[in-house]
Amino acid sequence: MINTNYNRVHMIDFKQYGDERGHLVVVEGMQDVPFEIKRIFYIYGSEKDVVRGQHANRKSQFVLINVAGTSKVGVKDGLGNEAIFVLNRPHTGIYLPNMVWKDMYDFSEDSVLLCLASEHYDDSEYIRDYNEFVKIVNEEKR
Ligand code: TYD
Repeated sequence: MINTNYNRVHMIDFKQYGDERGHLVVVEGMQDVPFEIKRIFYIYGSEKDVVRGQHANRKSQFVLINVAGTSKVGVKDGLGNEAIFVLNRPHTGIYLPNMVWKDMYDFSEDSVLLCLASEHYDDSEYIRDYNEFVKIVNEEKR
């Protein structure tokens, strides 16, 4: 049995409108990302050895874009599968559906990680204990 949401994780290449004045990237809800954007936040100033995220969300979907600098995103399905994605372009993001475990790490000094979310912040939909996540995923698979 598989956590099907894990298989929906993918990189997204956004169109770049570039000319001699520079670049511009547009991200529109339900067009460039597969949800309406209800919230944005960004993470910067994290040391290289810091691991952020370390949670799964019951409801929220995210798209993460390193608008400056670089970082890595580790994704786990809670059933033994995991993948690592590199965010190193301001016009490339990763789509993270709900119910996948994610770790963000290896931040460059200039990293600004923009996060687009499908939901308003609700701490109660965050699963912050990996063992609990594994348990929930295994229960749902039955
Ligand atoms: P946290 O979930 O630890 O961030 P990360 O996913 O980067 O590791 O959030 C850090 C703090 O910010 C925590 O006290 C909760 C708060 N917070 C909000 O109030 N709203 C939000 O949308 C987010 C993402 C975090």
